[in-house]
This record gives sequence, C-alpha cells and structure tokens, in this order.
Amino acid sequence: MTAKYDKKELVKKAKGMHDILPREYWVRERLIEKAKTIASFYGFKPIQTPHLEKIELFTSAVGENTDLVEKEMYNLKTKGGDKLVLRPEGTAPIMRAYIEQGMQVKPQPVLLYYYGSFFRHDRPQKGRRREFQQFGIEAIGEANSIADAVVIKVLWAVLEEAAGLKPISLHLNSVGCKECRKIYQKEMTAYYRKRARSLCKDCLRRLKINPLRLLDCKEEKCGELKKEAPQIINYLCEGCTNHFKNLLEILEASGIQYNLDNYLIRGLDYYSRTAFEFFLEGEPLALGGGGRYDGLSAILSGKEIPGVGGALGIDRILAMMPEKQKQSPKKKEAKIFFMQLGTEAKNKSLAVLELLRKAKIPTKHSLSKDSIKSQLKIAAKANAPYALIFGQKEALENIIIVRNTETASQEAVPLEKLADYLKKKL
Ligand code: HAM
Repeated sequence: MTAKYDKKELVKKAKGMHDILPREYWVRERLIEKAKTIASFYGFKPIQTPHLEKIELFTSAVGENTDLVEKEMYNLKTKGGDKLVLRPEGTAPIMRAYIEQGMQVKPQPVLLYYYGSFFRHDRPQKGRRREFQQFGIEAIGEANSIADAVVIKVLWAVLEEAAGLKPISLHLNSVGCKECRKIYQKEMTAYYRKRARSLCKDCLRRLKINPLRLLDCKEEKCGELKKEAPQIINYLCEGCTNHFKNLLEILEASGIQYNLDNYLIRGLDYYSRTAFEFFLEGEPLALGGGGRYDGLSAILSGKEIPGVGGALGIDRILAMMPEKQKQSPKKKEAKIFFMQLGTEAKNKSLAVLELLRKAKIPTKHSLSKDSIKSQLKIAAKANAPYALIFGQKEALENIIIVRNTETASQEAVPLEKLADYLKKKL
C-alpha cells in the first residue's frame, strides 16, 4: 500500500509547521504559566474556543478585504457541506462565544485570557509560521480607557517579567471610530489618488478597496509617500480624542512609556480607537498587538458591546527570549532508583512503581534494561540515595531490597510496607 509514497516525504512535516520538542515545550509551558498568573491577578479568566469556526465569522468580523481573510485562511468543507476555517485569530471567536454563551448578563467587563494555536497560510519565513501560538486577553463590556490600559499593562508585564525581554517598545495610535474614519479615508483617497502613478500594483488595488491599508505597504516607493500622508490623529472626533487622551494620561500615571505611531493602523477591520503593537527594541517583527473593537459585536449580533484586547506571538517571543530565562529550574532529584532483574520481577515492576507514584516518592527506573550492569550505570548517574533491587526471589516473596547507596547497607522490606518505610527514611 505504502509503495506509492516517497518514504522521505512521509516523515517530513507540512510546510510552515513545527514540532515542539520537550525542552522547548517546558520553556513554553513555564512562560504561559507566568503569563496566566499575571493575567489572573488582574481578574482575567481562562477560555478556550474551538480550532474550527464558520468562515463567515472571520469574513464579517475581520473583513473580506483584509490579507488575513483574502489570502491566509485555511478553508475546509466538511462532508456535510459546512464551510469551516482553522481559526486565524482569537478575538472574533471570543466575541462570538461571549454573545452565544450569554456573557452579557454577567457583571461587566468580562475579562478572558486564552492560549493556543492559530493558523495563517502565509509564506513561511523568519517569525512567520503557518501554525503559531498566541497568548491573548480580551476585556469585553468596558468602554473606558482604563480597560485599554489594563490590557497593555498585562501584556507588557508578560513580555518584560515572564519572558525577560527588555527594552520593550510600545507603539500606540488611535484609529478613531466609524465616523472619524470616514473623513480620514476621504483625505487618504484624495492624497494617494494625486500620487497614484508612484504606487505599487497592490497599493493601487488597496486604494480602491481600503485606502488605510496603503500604510501597511512595505514597498520603498510607497513608504516614501507615507511620510507625507494625512495622519488619523488630526481627524479624530471629540469622543475618540478624549478616549485617547485619557488612555495616555493613565499610561503616564502608570509609568508605561509609549511611542505615538500615527501610521499604525493594524491589518484587521474590527479595530476602533486604540491600536497598539509591542516590539523588542531594534527588532522589526511585532511581539504582539491589539486594540479596541467597539464595533465588532454589532457586526456579529447587532448589539453594541465595547471591547479591547491584545495577543502575544509566543513563537516570536521564544525566539528572542534570553537564554538565562529559558533555563529550567532545578528538577526535583529522584531519591530512589528502581532496578529489576528477571522476568518475574519485570512483570511486577509496574505494580511497585505505581505504589511509589501514589505515595508521591520521586523514582527513576530503566524498565527497558535487563542486565544489572546497565541499570547500575544509569543508577550511578541518577545519584539517588536509595536503590531498590527487585529480583526473581523478591518478586516471588513480595519483598524488595532497599539499599543505601552511600553506606552500601541494605534491608529487605515487604512491598506493602515499602512506601511508609521510604517516607521515614527520606
Ligand atoms: P495580530 O497582530 O494579527 O493580532 O497577532 C498578534 C501577534 O501574533 C503578532 O504580533 C505576532 O507576534 C503573532 N503572529 C501573528 N501572525 C504570526 C505568524 N504567522 N507566525 C508567528 N507569529 C505570528 C491578532 O491576532 C489579534 N486577534 C490580537 C487582538 C486581540 N486584538 C484584540 N484582541
């Protein structure tokens, strides 16, 4: 059956995907544990939404003309004919869950954190994976700038304290509301239309669909035009100006430094007012980003519910984390090394190990080895103060030899008394 497959290809993972091996896995887990502790302090609670969602959730919430929806979604059709996608981001699903699960009736704001895999079919390159992990937080049901500041503070603390990344630079902007953006879009269209001849092909298309997207272009000639382009900050309505001013005041009072970035727009359509991104100073790739999305719930349910949040790219953070931060804390040394000799003893080994596990006695073993010589070698490396020797005779008599590896003194102990005996010794 397998003859038609190229064996070399069979053991290669799909493009843009990554295996996470034990060492890196533990570094990730520790980072996420610290992130959860920080988020929990501020009142955020965990949520997990499905990896698969209906395609319409993202086309409506993130925007049909965004790169994410146009180019990067993994689409699939189920046998029943449903059109689903592997979630490319977490905010739309969480707002969906908030509405679907009736979280409006809970005390507001509802504060949620999440961690998991997201999928974007982008060209794989440094810092850009097709399956990547995010740690994100969302504060839904609070319009005041204090919620924006809390989100920024939590994510900042995760980057600086949990990941040990310094100095962090926070880029901040307000992208206004629907009303101020209408006027700004007109200004942008007029500005770029006059300069259309100097635009790249993609930007000419963007100009027709959404002129704000021109600010994201990486082409040099478009970058030159951006320097003189209108800035949204000059077109904010009174409400948006006050909201932004208030946020800046809170950040200043909290000692959070920011860089105003008047051209930071972000690539997802649901943003309104606050938009931000985090960088490690001198690095070009954002470690995380987010913003306010007061219009998102109206798109999904017709009801206005304010919200703000942000997400950190865990893979990027790990790639930049200082080595010192990645060191494992000292492992609990095993106090016991278990050795078995002979078939009878090997067969009963699991029963003995289970007895030790349930008694919470850290034990090492090498069950796959048969000879006492090779087991002794491994035991010497483990440096455990006690060795348990379980041979044919011991297995038949339900006893075990407990040997003090330092003094070489040893004693035969009935299995049913082993846990208590060891607890007294250790
Ligand atoms: P985003 O800016 O698209 O925002 O993603 C957040 C972070 O995820 C990025 O800053 C980056 O570190 C990481 N990231 C994104 N794409 C990739 C990739 N292909 N490979 C590796 N890392 C990647 C969002 O997803 C919003 N949902 C954030 C948010 C939450 N806004 C409000 N609430």
